[in-house]
Amino acid sequence: MPKKNSIESQLYNTECTETMRTFADKSIDCIITDPPYNLGLFMHNRNTNLKKMRENQFAYAGWDNLEFDEWQQNMRLWLQECNRVLKKKGTLIIFMAIIKVGDVIKLAEEAGFYYKTTGIWHKTNPMPRNMKIQYVNSTECWIYFVNEGTSGTFHNNGKVCHDFMESSVCPGSEKKFGKHPTQKPLSIMKQLIETLTNPDDIVLDSFMGSGSTCVAAKQLGRRYIGIELNEEYYNIAKARLNALDKK
Ligand SMILES: C[S@@+](CC[C@H](N)C(=O)[O-])C[C@H]1O[C@@H](n2cnc3c(N)ncnc32)[C@H](O)[C@@H]1O
Repeated sequence: MPKKNSIESQLYNTECTETMRTFADKSIDCIITDPPYNLGLFMHNRNTNLKKMRENQFAYAGWDNLEFDEWQQNMRLWLQECNRVLKKKGTLIIFMAIIKVGDVIKLAEEAGFYYKTTGIWHKTNPMPRNMKIQYVNSTECWIYFVNEGTSGTFHNNGKVCHDFMESSVCPGSEKKFGKHPTQKPLSIMKQLIETLTNPDDIVLDSFMGSGSTCVAAKQLGRRYIGIELNEEYYNIAKARLNALDKK
């Protein structure tokens, strides 16, 4: 199939909002991303043993430890760039902690996005932390928006698509090149990309971590752009993507 434009797949080891400012208007088909949930201070203020939890759970680079107002302002500026670079009717998926959903919807609507739904990712084998004293956290959510329109690409292939997805946590086989504390499983990323994009589309992940969105996009014949601040995680993503060329 001929390319719709000449943008090549690319990875950046940089700050995402600044990097997106260099992209052309309306040049991206879809953004699927997993920003820091800004739970660092929240957990700290609850006397949670954050150091221990972080090793398992949080990506603590970048915006995770900011005061809420600063995180909100960073999200606002980032969403303005998403609105500018994403095509009209392009899709935006933001993974987020459930307690932040209302904040993100408000900021995205201010930036020009139309809210569609909030989907759940249910982990079938979560870490059974504190299982004797509370419900074990086994869910994260993804918030679905369309840019400057009410509907965009959606391939349901004749099936009813529930806004609920299930999988195990990221399997060890997907961590061969190094570990990221919040790595998403490829099976979840592939379901989203298959439904929400077309072959050869450009999928942007501006908080790519270990590159799961980009790996899934490449495996499905989509182009990808990944941006990651942390050099260690950037190198994991690069190695995962390079390994696909050797298969
Ligand atoms: C929740 S993790 C993403 C994990 C990813 N979905 C995966 O499967 O590996 C968020 C990532 O965003 C990165 N990050 C934080 N602030 C950033 C910024 N301003 N620009 C680019 N990357 C940033 C962090 O280093 C972290 O790796």
